[in-house]
Amino acid sequence: MTTIPLGIHDLSFATTHYALDHAVLAERLGVDPDKFYLGIGQDKMSVAAADEDIVTIAAAAAQPILERNGVDNIRTVLLATESGVDQSKAAGLYLHPLIGLPNTARVVELKQACYGGTAGLQFAAGLIARDPSQRVLVIAADIAKYELDSPGEPTQGAAAVAMLVSADPAILRLEPHSGLYSADIMDFWRPNYRTAAMVDGKTSVNAYQKATQEAWTDYRRRGGRDLTEFAAFCYHQPFTKMAYKAHRHLLESQGHTADPAEIDAVIRHTTSYNRTVGNSYTASLYLGLASLLDNADDLTGKPLAFISYGSGSVAEFFSGTVEPGYREHLRTEANRQAIETRAPLDYDHYRELHEAQSPSDGMYHATPEETGRPFRLAAISGHKRIYESR
Ligand code: COA
Repeated sequence: MTTIPLGIHDLSFATTHYALDHAVLAERLGVDPDKFYLGIGQDKMSVAAADEDIVTIAAAAAQPILERNGVDNIRTVLLATESGVDQSKAAGLYLHPLIGLPNTARVVELKQACYGGTAGLQFAAGLIARDPSQRVLVIAADIAKYELDSPGEPTQGAAAVAMLVSADPAILRLEPHSGLYSADIMDFWRPNYRTAAMVDGKTSVNAYQKATQEAWTDYRRRGGRDLTEFAAFCYHQPFTKMAYKAHRHLLESQGHTADPAEIDAVIRHTTSYNRTVGNSYTASLYLGLASLLDNADDLTGKPLAFISYGSGSVAEFFSGTVEPGYREHLRTEANRQAIETRAPLDYDHYRELHEAQSPSDGMYHATPEETGRPFRLAAISGHKRIYESR
C-alpha cells in the first residue's frame, strides 16, 4: 500500500442564487415547521434560478481554485454528478471557456448517486500515487430535485464543491485505508425520462445505516483506526439529522454507548452549511468537510472520518488527517458569503422553477436572466447549451 502524502490541497464551494426557507414550505404543506427544523434538521434549501444548472455552479466552485493555484500539471478533471445536463458529453468540458481549464487534461464525468464525489477523490489519489507531479481537479456538483408535495421535497438543495487533489496537500492528508460496501438496492434512482428522483425514503434511511456499518467493518478489517480516535465524522447529509442517525447506529452496532452530547460534539460542526443549503448529493459530504474546517476549533493533526453513501448503493468509510497550517488555506469568508447572499424565494416562483421543462424542439430559447452569480446558462439553441460568464 502506497503511503506518499497526498490529499486535498484546496477546497472551494458554490451554491445557487436562490434559497427557499423551510417555514415557507411548511406553511404551504400545512406541517409544523419543527418537523423540518428539528425532525430532519433543515432550515433552508438552495434552489437553482432559471439560468443555473450544475455547470454554472461547478464553474463558480472551481474558478477560485484555478485562480489561486494555476493550471500547471492538472492532468485530470473529474466531475461527479447525478443531475448532469447531457447523456454523452462530460459536463466538465463546458468549463474550458468559462474558467480556462487546460486542454492538456482528461475530463470525465462520474456517476453513482451521492457517492460519485468520493469515487473522484479516490481515483485522483490513485493517479497521484502513480505520478506525484500531477494534480487532479475533482468537482462534485448537484441540484437535488424531488417531486413537489412529496416527503422528499424538503430534502432538496444544491451546491458544488471543487477540490484540488495533489501530493503534499495543504489541508487534508488522505490515509490509505478505506472500507467499501456495495449492493443492488432500489432506494433512490432517476430513470432517464425523469427530472425528479424516485425514492423510497424509509428504505434509503435503513440502507444508508446498514451500508455505513458494513463499510466501517471493512475499513477496520483492513487496518483502519478505532472509532474512538476520530475528532469528527463527516457523513453524507441528505438532511443533517441523517448524520446523527447514522452515527448513533454505527456506535450502537459496535457496542458503544450512543450519548447524544458526545454524538453532537463529533457531528455538529459538519452540519452548519448543509442545514441551510440542503441536499447537494455528491457535494454534500464535502460541504460537511468545509463546514467542519470553517467552524471547529483547531483541528491540526487530528484524524477525521468520512462516510460516503450513494443510493443504489455504494458506501465508503475512509479517513484523513488535518495538515498543520490548514487554516491559512481555507475560504471561510467566501463560503459564508455564498450562503448569505442567496436571494429569498417565494413559493409561487419556487413552484414555477420546479415545474419548468427544458425545451426540446431545437429552436433558440433564451433563458430568463435571474442569477446574480458569475456564470449563467444564457440559452439553449440547436439542442446546445450556451453558457456565459460575467
Ligand atoms: N417536531 C419535531 N420533529 C418532528 C415533527 C415535529 N413537529 N414532526 C415529525 N418530526 C420528526 C419525526 O419524528 C421524524 O424523526 P425520526 O426520523 O427521528 O423518527 C422526522 O421528523 C421525519 O419525520 P417523518 O414522518 O419520518 O418524515 P417523512 O415521512 O415525511 O420523510 C424522509 C422523511 C427522510 C424519509 C423523506 O424526507 C425522504 O424521503 N427524503 C428523501 C430521501 C432521503 O433523504 N434519504 C436519506 C438516505 S440517502
